[in-house]
Amino acid sequence: MAINLDWENLGFSYRNLPFRYIARFKDGKWSAGELTGDNQLHISESSPALHYGQQGFEGLKAYRTKDGSIQLFRPDQNAARLQNTARRLCMAEVPTEMFIDAVKQVVKANEDFVPPYGTGATLYLRPLLIGVGDVIGVKPADEYIFTVFAMPVGSYFKGGLAPSKFVISRDYDRAAPLGTGGAKVGGNYAASLQAEVGAKASGYADAIYLDPSTHTKIEEVGAANFFGITADNEFITPLSPSILPSITKYSLLYLAEHRLGLKAIEGEVYAKDLGKFVEAGACGTAAIISPIGRIDDGEDSYIFHSETEVGPTVKRLYDELVGIQFGDVEAPEGWIVKV
Ligand code: PLP
Ligand code: COI
Repeated sequence: MAINLDWENLGFSYRNLPFRYIARFKDGKWSAGELTGDNQLHISESSPALHYGQQGFEGLKAYRTKDGSIQLFRPDQNAARLQNTARRLCMAEVPTEMFIDAVKQVVKANEDFVPPYGTGATLYLRPLLIGVGDVIGVKPADEYIFTVFAMPVGSYFKGGLAPSKFVISRDYDRAAPLGTGGAKVGGNYAASLQAEVGAKASGYADAIYLDPSTHTKIEEVGAANFFGITADNEFITPLSPSILPSITKYSLLYLAEHRLGLKAIEGEVYAKDLGKFVEAGACGTAAIISPIGRIDDGEDSYIFHSETEVGPTVKRLYDELVGIQFGDVEAPEGWIVKV
């Protein structure tokens, strides 16, 4: 390996790697994508992505296995979700084959930056789809850019399996009832920034949002889904049209049931009932599984297992998921794609 970075302490930061992929949609079709060393996008000042938020993105990782090979975790699911996002925002869709080919090209071109096995670090890939061109009225663009760039990353929240503390956002929603919460669009993240900045200033890892209709049910963290474990061995995660359908969450629902023998439930999680969970976690591509040690909700405070130690079931779920991602545990069929 030619590159020598402090792999164990990367955190989650942008890094300008040598190559990224770019393809352009014009006159109803995609150009052949190509790799470029230029990390700047050159787009019209009137691009709908800039003014009206007509854009969407994805997040997935490449994992170095023990034998030195590199693999992706369920990239077809990211492709399908970006297509769903594109439909919601009237954008051109990126076919699954083109999406996976782009991701593979970027991983291969930046192979030296795929962290070594055993460091816990991965290569994070950020596919981005934006509406561009000379448009000033509110309407969908005729032209699009699809790009995929990458960077090596470590933990998104606190290091490894150290539990984090979250606060329920009572002042701001991230999504509207029939809005875009279920699509991966920048507007959802823009709407979450004030709550996140406030949460971090008060010493929390992030905010947790409630359902925007009744403000009684847990939805998700700003950048990850929520799950809880009950004393009856139930794995429960919220079901709502305004949360992002997390690929990690659906993977954990499957693993909880088929590998750990838990009862896996996607259903309503009332904030006032948080006390029923003996363990809890935030899950996502960036977050992996981050144990939740505590959630504060106004005057109420809930502690899950411990504020300093990961609980046994969250640890088992983590080992199963991460074991599959790094190739140490057998994956359900179709989950792993070799680069
Ligand atoms: N929820 C939000 C708001 C996210 O940004 C993410 C990250 O992608 C997730 C959930 C987790 O989704 P996934 O597991 O597909 O990465
Ligand atoms: C991801 O987990 O891929 C995300 O998109 C979360 C965040 C960094 C926006």
